[in-house]
Amino acid sequence: MRFEGSTDYVATPDLMLAVNAAITLQRPLLVKGEPGTGKTMLAETVAEALGLPLLQWHIKSTTKAQQGLYEYDAVSRLRDSQLGGEHGSRVHDISNYIVKGVLWQAFSAETPTVILIDEIDKADIEFPNDLLRELDRMEFYVYETRELVKAKHRPIVFITSNNEKELPDAFLRRCFFHYIKFPDKETMQSIIDVHFPGLKKTLIREALEVFFELRDIPGLKKKPSTSELLDWLKLLVAEDIPPEALRAKDQKAAIPPLHGALLKNEQDVHLFERLVFMARQNR
Ligand SMILES: Nc1ncnc2c1ncn2[C@@H]1O[C@H](COP(=O)(O)OP(=O)(O)OP(=O)(O)O)[C@@H](O)[C@H]1O
Ligand SMILES: [Mg+2]
Repeated sequence: MRFEGSTDYVATPDLMLAVNAAITLQRPLLVKGEPGTGKTMLAETVAEALGLPLLQWHIKSTTKAQQGLYEYDAVSRLRDSQLGGEHGSRVHDISNYIVKGVLWQAFSAETPTVILIDEIDKADIEFPNDLLRELDRMEFYVYETRELVKAKHRPIVFITSNNEKELPDAFLRRCFFHYIKFPDKETMQSIIDVHFPGLKKTLIREALEVFFELRDIPGLKKKPSTSELLDWLKLLVAEDIPPEALRAKDQKAAIPPLHGALLKNEQDVHLFERLVFMARQNR
């Protein structure tokens, strides 16, 4: 099984290498990178390219590792025991109240699957440690039914992180790591081509120029990323804004139109306006 890229996701050679390395090692691929650089979409793309089902597990601050394995629905069981009759007969088989989590579904699937554990850094610090054995051995024990669940096929696991918390060393040891570098101009051009085929070349050129200049401003609190550039381009097209309007080069250098798609807080907008103002005075 090898990932060779896809038509609607731009994967650089080093990213493809990392994906295939993780597949060969049969270890989870830990993907980091700025927000909006395609971490989540990577798992979706690989699953589609390899023709495997994708099981997604989106992590929140309250998510527990156990929920990925299974949950025991004690409330339903209690209700059934009180209702009696048809419901009451279900009560004795505890497996009626075991709800399978993402890992169990993947382990019991008839074909290999792709698992996405998205934004692992959102959970508390114990979360990754609690999954070490399951991800390593691909098995776990269900105490309620005294059953060992073992993966029929080892799933391909993608784990994304936005670096909000450090991950424990024991966890890192078990992963293959890849940092998605921010795309250079050329890669960004290909990403735009994938999303907006046939967009005017001059508009793309001017937009890229403004975008990368903006990212280079020192002291920006939140640099715009790929998904924000795509949003901005979509708006420019929808509003029919001509390429010349993006950078009024001479007298009236102005802040780019619809900059709300790119700059996400007022300090950054002020910073940018100040720079534009200074550039004007120096003229
Ligand atoms: N390499 C790429 N090729 C094609 N589209 C891309 C690429 N990178 C990013 N995008 C676009 O950017 C959007 C955001 O990507 P995605 O949601 O995967 O980012 P992310 O890294 O998971 O962000 P976050 O950390 O905020 O969750 C995607 O919907 C896609 O349209
Ligand atoms: Mg994401």
